[in-house]
Amino acid sequence: MQTPTSRLDANHTLKLLFEYLTKIASLKSFDAIIYELANMGRALASAERCSVWVVSDDKKFLQTKVAHGIDAISIPINSGIVGDAVCRGKNIILDDVYSSEKFNQNIDKEKGYTTKSMMVIPMYDNKSNEIIGAFQVMNSTSTNGIFDTHDLEYLSLASTYAAETIISAKLSSEIENTQKEVVFTMGAIGESRSKETGNHVKRVAEYSKLLALAYGLDEKEAELLKQASPMHDIGKIAIADSILNKPGRFTMQERNIMNRHAQLGYSMLQSSTRPLLRAAAIVAYEHHEKWDGSGYPRGLKEQDIHIYGRITAIADVFDALGSERVYKKAWADEKIFTLFKQERAKHFDPDLIDIFFNNIEKICAIREKFKDSYKEEAQKRETGHKIKILGAYGTKAKGFGTSSFLLSNSTVIDAGNLLDALAEDSLHVENIYLTHSHLDHISDIAYIIDNYFSLRTKTLNIIGLPQTIEAIKKDFLNDVIWPDFSKIRLPDSDDMVIAYQELQLGEEYTLGEKKSLQTIQTDHTVPSCGYIYKVDESAVLITADTYSLENIIQRVNHDKQIKSLVVECSFPSEMQELAKESKHLTAKLLFEDLKKLQREDITLYINHIKPQFLEKIIIEIEEFRGDFKPIILKDGDFVYF
Ligand code: C2E
Ligand code: SIN
Ligand code: SIN
Ligand code: SIN
Ligand code: FE
Ligand code: FE
Repeated sequence: MQTPTSRLDANHTLKLLFEYLTKIASLKSFDAIIYELANMGRALASAERCSVWVVSDDKKFLQTKVAHGIDAISIPINSGIVGDAVCRGKNIILDDVYSSEKFNQNIDKEKGYTTKSMMVIPMYDNKSNEIIGAFQVMNSTSTNGIFDTHDLEYLSLASTYAAETIISAKLSSEIENTQKEVVFTMGAIGESRSKETGNHVKRVAEYSKLLALAYGLDEKEAELLKQASPMHDIGKIAIADSILNKPGRFTMQERNIMNRHAQLGYSMLQSSTRPLLRAAAIVAYEHHEKWDGSGYPRGLKEQDIHIYGRITAIADVFDALGSERVYKKAWADEKIFTLFKQERAKHFDPDLIDIFFNNIEKICAIREKFKDSYKEEAQKRETGHKIKILGAYGTKAKGFGTSSFLLSNSTVIDAGNLLDALAEDSLHVENIYLTHSHLDHISDIAYIIDNYFSLRTKTLNIIGLPQTIEAIKKDFLNDVIWPDFSKIRLPDSDDMVIAYQELQLGEEYTLGEKKSLQTIQTDHTVPSCGYIYKVDESAVLITADTYSLENIIQRVNHDKQIKSLVVECSFPSEMQELAKESKHLTAKLLFEDLKKLQREDITLYINHIKPQFLEKIIIEIEEFRGDFKPIILKDGDFVYF
């Protein structure tokens, strides 16, 4: 599945990043910093050459100070492949640049160099969202000679890092500030890889300084801790994505691997003699130690844990609990405070817990100031309507459920994951609206009946297009594959266990007061439909499996009641042929289609990802999403409209 030749393993990446980090943090000139950034990009992406391009102050040119083997160059901002990436804000991967009209062959000709593969990643100023330049690597040194999504991921790391460093180096002549920025950014990179928002490190930094001052450390030391604490999880850089971003709870083994991040972070930082990095090393090493000695990695106790470690522990856990993670929901304040009281003198230094509660108002003010903007959006959405995703994926795998949407206690769309998600609550389900007859959308019809047969009191209505109903009768609940429950009576009742109802394409069906469901045609290998679910004046359009989105987009463009759109993205781009044949989408195809969407206010949700390609597809969604900010659904999430 992966090409080991071009892929650096996580430990190697970590080593490289750290080597460059320490080097860059000691540099004194802008040019030298850029040069090392280019070296870092080349190493991380396994490329022959790397250029770091910077947009000129008048925004008319792209300039590079270092192109490996090439002198400084300046080109008009819209020229060449780099210009294309910068002007459109898009990542570009090309296997052979000479097949691209945009490629400017002059540089090759002049320098007697032959460029084949190329990857370009624009660099953004996080604050203004403006593009400030681009990272460009040429000629992959992997055996197949082309760049892949792993290279993209690593170069993205380098590019985030480069952007912050360049901005800070440009702004301040004071090189020390650049170093602080470098350290801070490294922390943020660790965060961004673990899908936590950048503001997490800012909040942890601010909480730490506040607690340090209140504890009695002097201003200088408190400031040092503030600068160092964002690095607490830097060791997570070395943890495999599959573990780091696992959308669920860890097994014991995964937990043990994850726990290595403390020791790893320390190993990265401990060799430095800089005060800032030394402080960061302590924080990385000791932020998971616990007051009662039950923490890791060394099981230190009480005052043996450095004060930096004890402070960061509180700051980190407070923020982690209040934030949503891939593996957990955000906790309510009350629950957090209860835990903090319980853990006084167990997990946490009792004095620091007292200080924490004495300063709770200031702490909450920091949280408010550096809150994640997505949360505001989420809050807004909480006040509207929502449906719950019982299963979000395109095939079953351990811990991953297939398509099911819970509209109300009694009504669902599709039946891929009812048994696991609802268990006995599935007894309340009376109406299953189906999008099509594929197994990952119907399978649990069989199991919820089977498991809870003796408790069922109500008929289960199986509702869908005539062809879907026909397929279920003929090929599924046919007394061969599974019993024909339309001929079997409910216990102590004259009603049958299931009844069938047929829907027409384009018809709107009333579900209850101010609630309706309308079918809309989708494009799959079997007859299929999506549903527009409307409550009051707002609606969500759920497409199930579909290849073409044309009629869907047309509908969304002129139906302003539709507030949210759920679309699929089943396969990675390299499987485009299979996607086409099985009538599914890849990220590339999806966002190609979505260019025709003229609604900026639509919230876009993505589901039906095949779990075995989850990591790859997430990276590709990031690569192709353009200005869209899609939400990738997991089991248990909500869709708001
Ligand atoms: P994190 O998400 O930043 O969490 C930092 C610390 O906050 C945790 O350290 C833990 O002390 C506390 N914390 C976070 N969530 C909870 C919670 O739901 N209950 C309680 N009681 N405490 C919580 P810890 O446990 O050493 O974990 C370190 C890191 O390991 C976490 O950083 C996270 O990145 C990862 N992690 C831990 N458990 C899981 C898991 O089940 N699944 C996944 N995907 N990641 C996990
Ligand atoms: C370009 O076409 O992107 C510029 C040429 C180069 O840097 O090789
Ligand atoms: C977990 O529940 O796995 C993480 C939080 C803890 O340390 O209790
Ligand atoms: C489906 O349409 O989800 C089943 C077929 C496939 O996975 O390609
Ligand atoms: Fe940690
Ligand atoms: Fe399907």
